[in-house]
Formats: sequence, structure tokens, C-alpha cells
Amino acid sequence: MAALSGQLVGKAQQIMDSRGKPTVRVELTLGNITVKGDVPAGASKGEDEAQTVSVTQAIDNIEKVLLPLWKNANLDLSSHASIVQLEEMMIAQAGANFSTLGANATLPLSRALWRLAAALRDKELFAYIRAVEPELASHQRVHFLMNIFNGGLHAIKPGEELGRERIDIQEIMVVPMAAATYQRALEMGERIDEALKTILIEKFSAQRVTRADEAGFSVKGLGNSSEAFALVFEAIQKAGFKPGEDVKLALDVAASSFYHEGMYQFQGKQLSGKDMVKYLTDLVDKYPGMLLSIEDGLAENDWENWTSLTAQMRTRNVVTIGDDLFVTQLPRLKRGIEHQAADAILIKVNQNGTVHGTLQVMKFAKASGVQCVVSHRSGETLDDSIADLAYATGSLGLKTGDPQPMGDFPDPHTWVRRVKYLRMVAMEERTI
Ligand code: PGA
Ligand code: ZN
Repeated sequence: MAALSGQLVGKAQQIMDSRGKPTVRVELTLGNITVKGDVPAGASKGEDEAQTVSVTQAIDNIEKVLLPLWKNANLDLSSHASIVQLEEMMIAQAGANFSTLGANATLPLSRALWRLAAALRDKELFAYIRAVEPELASHQRVHFLMNIFNGGLHAIKPGEELGRERIDIQEIMVVPMAAATYQRALEMGERIDEALKTILIEKFSAQRVTRADEAGFSVKGLGNSSEAFALVFEAIQKAGFKPGEDVKLALDVAASSFYHEGMYQFQGKQLSGKDMVKYLTDLVDKYPGMLLSIEDGLAENDWENWTSLTAQMRTRNVVTIGDDLFVTQLPRLKRGIEHQAADAILIKVNQNGTVHGTLQVMKFAKASGVQCVVSHRSGETLDDSIADLAYATGSLGLKTGDPQPMGDFPDPHTWVRRVKYLRMVAMEERTI
């Protein structure tokens, strides 16, 4: 029997994200199936990412505009063409770059819709994505980019100065390259997290060592990024691994966040784009073979220097990733491809606004030889569907924060990062 969208029962509600800020959850019910979808939020946002409205407005838009639109269409949900049609109706209604309805209204609904579509076919979400987007389907191993040392907008507190009290590079991530399974990758991340904690507390005292927005460490008074790199390498070794071989580093510089009037305010100095490229190439040369990738090494509109950074990094085997640069949207990705601006795109579903739209961007990237790294946001929820997206498409990486070891995070309600890693473990264990 056809499952018609007219029979859907939907409700939207306010929930809290990992920063304690209100966000939106949608619940859809059809017969005996109930599914959910949440929307996360960023702190270091790209200028051109899909726009949001207030949480109350988003809830209103879902219940009074979008759900009635879907119900009136009365489409057969067991056909994927209908799912795409509902997504496209939503995009058409949402206004320019989602400014009218808000991506915080469309995305949770879209995520719930994809879960429902998968459930109607009795499939896991990742298997459904593979079935309906065969060009994207891949079994390639996904690297975990685990954010272990935090700086920038994710760590700074009122009255503090970046480059002095906190490092200005937003994220230093560890990537367990040698892990044969996702379970092992998670364990390696946990061991490095533990080793780093011990090192930092011994060196700086427990009071100065805290966990920042994405659950990785931050140290008050440690503003020098080079010192932070050295400490992370020390932790990798202390945990029993070989830097460069077993574990590499990935960076998110988030350079747009310290770019003002044509200059980068970095490490207490004013640097030009060319100086930033030099800083990053020198850094890679200082640690040859140790870095997998550098995300947002430059600001989102510094196109010319992006091309030069990517050319430099290609000769050093380091992948450049565009986050604010591309904001998971086709026009900016196309421009980046013309400029050879970056080798990979960061994929954030809420920058795009819908799951279908996100998959179209990923498809275009893949066809153009641009790799994908699927990512969470700094303000997260327990929605783990980005793991399915990464797993289904065999993306280069899944970037979803610190592993949140259970010793320090005993309450599963706080596992907004960990659940994504655990989902990867579960999918692998079921399908190996
Ligand atoms: P955001 O941070 O969610 O605050 O944008 C994550 C990132 O920059 O990759
Ligand atoms: Zn980023």
C-alpha cells in the first residue's frame, strides 16, 4: 500500500544544543514509524551559508508552512522521486538562500524525511543513500578527524585575546591513519585524548585546562600554536603511536574568523595572505609527512591566495579543505573548481539547507575530483546522521570533534560527538 505524505503527522519542538542554545527537532510519524531530525549550529560561520530564522519562527514555519505543503502534495513516499520532489518544494518555498523559512526549519524536516524514506524501505539510512545515489556510493575507509586541541572562536572567553590567551588556530585534530577498524580508530583517539590531558595538567595545572566547544582541550595562557602542535605530537607518542605513520594531524585554521580589512590578525601580528601561505608551508615543512589536511587556511574570499596555497600543498601531499570557502553550496564550489582553490570540500548539511541539496553538492564535487569531508557543527545535538552520510559515500573524512572518552563524559546525553563515531563503529560491525 502506498505511504502517502498526506498521512504524515509531524511536530517541531525546541531542544538545547551542546552549547546550551535552543535549536529545532522535528518528529515525523507515519503509521507505526516515528523518526527524528535535528539541526546543529556553527559559531565560526561562513558569510554565505544557508540563513536561519529564530527557533520560534522555524517551528512555526515547519508546522504552518512546510508540513501543510507536504500534506497537500499527497505524494507516495515509497518512491524516491517523491522524496526529491518534497525537498525541492521546500527549497523553492524557502526564499533566497533560505532567508524566508530558515535552514533551521528545512534541515531538521529534511533529515527526518530521509530517515522515514529509509525506514519505509526497511533500510538503514546509509544503505538508502547508497541505493538512491549510486554515483556517490563507496566503501572507501573514512578517516576520523578528531578535534583534540581547540582555539579560536570555540575556545575564547570574554576579555581574552587570541594568539595570547588561546591559540588562534581553531582546531588541531588527530587522524588515526593506522586503524584497521572504526572501533580501533575511536580507541586510538581516546588514548591520545587521555595522554594529552595528563601532559597538559602536569604542565599547566588542572585549573587552566578545560574542554572547549567541540570537547577537545584548551589551555588558558597558551596562545602559541607551535607549542600546541608540539604538545599534541608528544601526546601521540605518549599514547604509544608514531606521528606521521600511525597518526597524522589535520588543522582547521578557520582563518575567516581572524581576517579583518584585508589582513590576518594571527599570532599577535598582522599578516598578509602571502604571509599566511608562508606560515602554513613552513609549518608543513617543519613536520614533513605529519599533516593530512589543512581546512580554511585562508579567509573565505581570499581566492587568489587559496589557489597558491593549494598549489604549494599539493607538492607536499597535504589536502586543502574549504569550509567557509564553499559553505556546501554549488555556486561557490564551482568557482573554487575554476580557481583550483582547494582539493576538498567540507560538507555541513545545515550550510546547505537540505539532505538532497547536500548530496547534489557532494556528487558535483566527486565528479570534479574534489574530495569530501563530512562535518558536524560546534553547536551539536545527538543526531548522528552525518555518520551515515560519510559511511555511505566513503568520504575522505568524518570530522566530528573529540572522541569524548567515557571517563570524562559519563553521561550519554552529552555524547554529541561520540555518538557519530559510535555510529560508524555500528555500521561497520553490521556490514563487514
Ligand atoms: P563551526 O565550526 O560549526 O563553529 O562553524 C566547525 C568548523 O569550522 O569546521
Ligand atoms: Zn571549519
